[in-house]
Amino acid sequence: MKKLVFSGIQPTGNIHIGNYLGAIQHWVNSQDKYNNIFCVVDLHAITVPQDPKVLRAKSRELAGLLLASGIDPKKSELFIQSHIGEHCELAWILNCITPMGWMQRMTQFKEKSEKQKENVSVGLFDYPALMAADILLYQADLVPVGEDQKQHVEITRDIAQKFNSTYGETFKIPEPVIAEVGARIMGLDDPTKKMSKSETSQNHAVLLLDPPDAIRAKIMRATTDSLREIKFDENRPGIYNLLVIYELFTKKSRDEIESMYEGKGYADFKKDLAEVIIEGIRPVQEKYKEITADPAYIDSLLTKSAERLRPIAQKTLNLVKERMGIG
Ligand code: AMP
Ligand code: TRP
Repeated sequence: MKKLVFSGIQPTGNIHIGNYLGAIQHWVNSQDKYNNIFCVVDLHAITVPQDPKVLRAKSRELAGLLLASGIDPKKSELFIQSHIGEHCELAWILNCITPMGWMQRMTQFKEKSEKQKENVSVGLFDYPALMAADILLYQADLVPVGEDQKQHVEITRDIAQKFNSTYGETFKIPEPVIAEVGARIMGLDDPTKKMSKSETSQNHAVLLLDPPDAIRAKIMRATTDSLREIKFDENRPGIYNLLVIYELFTKKSRDEIESMYEGKGYADFKKDLAEVIIEGIRPVQEKYKEITADPAYIDSLLTKSAERLRPIAQKTLNLVKERMGIG
């Protein structure tokens, strides 16, 4: 029996090469090894205010980008979270067994609520319970995520264990899977901060749908330092981040890359890096154009996937309700 992978991605902001290298590519590469469910988490997106039209369009765009990146609908399920109501229902139930203190420790909530003080919803606080519901409904074994989401997978395990020990074995305890290299691609304008979909400054991220000239301009402007040597040195976050991006796209070894650029300047390296990225994402952009040429294709695929998954979600939820004496 193959293990079951579940992962989710929010349909907000613009998908960038950090998402691609840190998450999507790993999902694509491990599709044959596992059974896979990928979820466009629109219910997580609304934990902060969203424009309804934009949100609906972004959910389809994200699904299209995942397919274009190589998520194969024959090997993986791909669906929209809000299409399966059981996610909300299980999230409510999990709320009722999750201590406030566990939630209060979540660093993502602390960071996000600090940024938007006057506008912090209960949903934003409760975000991890919904994420736990996503994962536990399908009895997932493995949850591939970036480093930033590890804490949410850990609270999912704690919630599942608490449920199991209170009401009897019900949930499989999932494991987080964190990629080693590229787990954290940093912002081009500020290499001390994670490249983020919600960051709006022009030179922060290379987007998966950026045209070649935009990519060249962003890479040439990327923040580095006043030193010269092109070396993988974590203490020099700007050049280190660019080198990691180069490494992940070319699959060349660090030694090989360093020797290629011995005696060369940052400008030479950046020019090459821009071309490496452009070539690296060209197939994704071409496939995206193909897929979106038929506007009904993505929606029909998402609907069919939800239809196949709903019975699995219902089975888990029914068991949960029976164990708790509700329904
Ligand atoms: P998000 O953009 O926060 O919705 O994250 C979607 C997926 O991409 C998650 O698995 C994240 O951990 C991953 N991810 C987001 N930003 C980065 C980044 N800068 N570097 C690597 N992975 C990332
Ligand atoms: N919170 C995750 C993120 O922002 C997205 C997510 C929602 C998720 N539900 C999930 C990831 C379930 C893995 C499993 O990246």
